[in-house]
Amino acid sequence: MKRVVVEQFGGVENLKLVEEPTPAPAAGQVRVRLTSVGMNHAELMARRGEYRLSSGDPPFTPGVEGGGVIEAVGPGVADRRIGQRVILSPDAPRLAAGGLGGTYRTHYLCAAAQTLPAPDALPDDQLGAVWLAYLTAWGCLVWKQNVRPGQVVALPAASSSVALAAAQIAKAMGAEAIGLTTRQDKKRRLQALPAARYDHVLVTRGPDSDDLPWHREIKTLTDGRGVDVFFDPVAAGACLNMEIRCLAQRGTVWVYGLLGEPGVVDVTPLIRKHAAIRGWVLGELVADREATEAGCRWILDRFADGTFTQHVDRTFSLEDVRNAHAFMERGDHVGKLVLRP
Ligand SMILES: NC(=O)c1ccc[n+]([C@@H]2O[C@H](COP(=O)([O-])OP(=O)(O)OC[C@H]3O[C@@H](n4cnc5c(N)ncnc54)[C@H](OP(=O)(O)O)[C@@H]3O)[C@@H](O)[C@H]2O)c1
Repeated sequence: MKRVVVEQFGGVENLKLVEEPTPAPAAGQVRVRLTSVGMNHAELMARRGEYRLSSGDPPFTPGVEGGGVIEAVGPGVADRRIGQRVILSPDAPRLAAGGLGGTYRTHYLCAAAQTLPAPDALPDDQLGAVWLAYLTAWGCLVWKQNVRPGQVVALPAASSSVALAAAQIAKAMGAEAIGLTTRQDKKRRLQALPAARYDHVLVTRGPDSDDLPWHREIKTLTDGRGVDVFFDPVAAGACLNMEIRCLAQRGTVWVYGLLGEPGVVDVTPLIRKHAAIRGWVLGELVADREATEAGCRWILDRFADGTFTQHVDRTFSLEDVRNAHAFMERGDHVGKLVLRP
């Protein structure tokens, strides 16, 4: 078995590939040969030492999702078979749930119950690249917010895997989806991409990285009503201020990441709008087993019937993990980046 190890916090040079004996499954376990491991912004932060809560101290193996083909089953496993295509459950990579830890590896050992049979519609290079984006968006927009038909959902970082998933989910709920991207070239790419289901894409920055007055476009697009739900991983001061200005009556800004610089925010419009800013983290959903199972079923059903499709921008081998991280850090991608162990 090969796995990636972060030996100390820092740059991509700290990602090392190590080889060790492939473990055999114990009673009730299966061994999955991973065919794909979705890459997420969280792993860049973990490698840099900005996400210790999740990574702990080095050495550790990054990666929070994975999927592939069952290669071996332990004694007592009756409902999984060798050759079956599966997705690791969202809690499988968590050490606290008995998992091996990070999924940047060729093989994964876990309880048979921590695997879900994959729909045929999901290709091998996406088996392990669904949960982070889709469950993060489902947990907030459906489970917490219960987005309703006719509402307007706005999605900053429109080219990110989470926002692309969120747009598909918002549309499936009957809402309107507006994507906000920092780059004009990405607007063009998103408009040409079938997996990007935005009704409109707006650009938030000019060529000199100056903030554009995108609130005016929002006003026009919503006939002055504003946005019901912002689902925002940027949360920089300027962006948050604009979102508060664009909120509809009783609207909500959900903050689920910090990609920009924090800044001073004027919250006073929240008072007359009866509006709110709230935080969201996927861990809240994963801690609720019943809700997680409902979310997984809802999402997989929509992959199975073709409602959802994911765009993989690029795949990398495990040996190429340093280039993969450097590529993600440049931020030129649209959609998912995937490791193919
Ligand atoms: N709370 C949770 O449970 C949870 C779960 C999953 C992910 N997340 C967060 O969601 C975010 C997206 O994750 P991902 O894995 O989908 O990342 P990703 O695919 O790498 O997307 C990153 C995108 O964010 C935008 N962006 C980056 N830096 C920015 C900045 N300084 N200002 C404004 N926009 C910026 C860019 O989009 P444009 O070029 O289109 O502007 C960039 O392409 C991350 O912040 C991650 O930590 C949170």
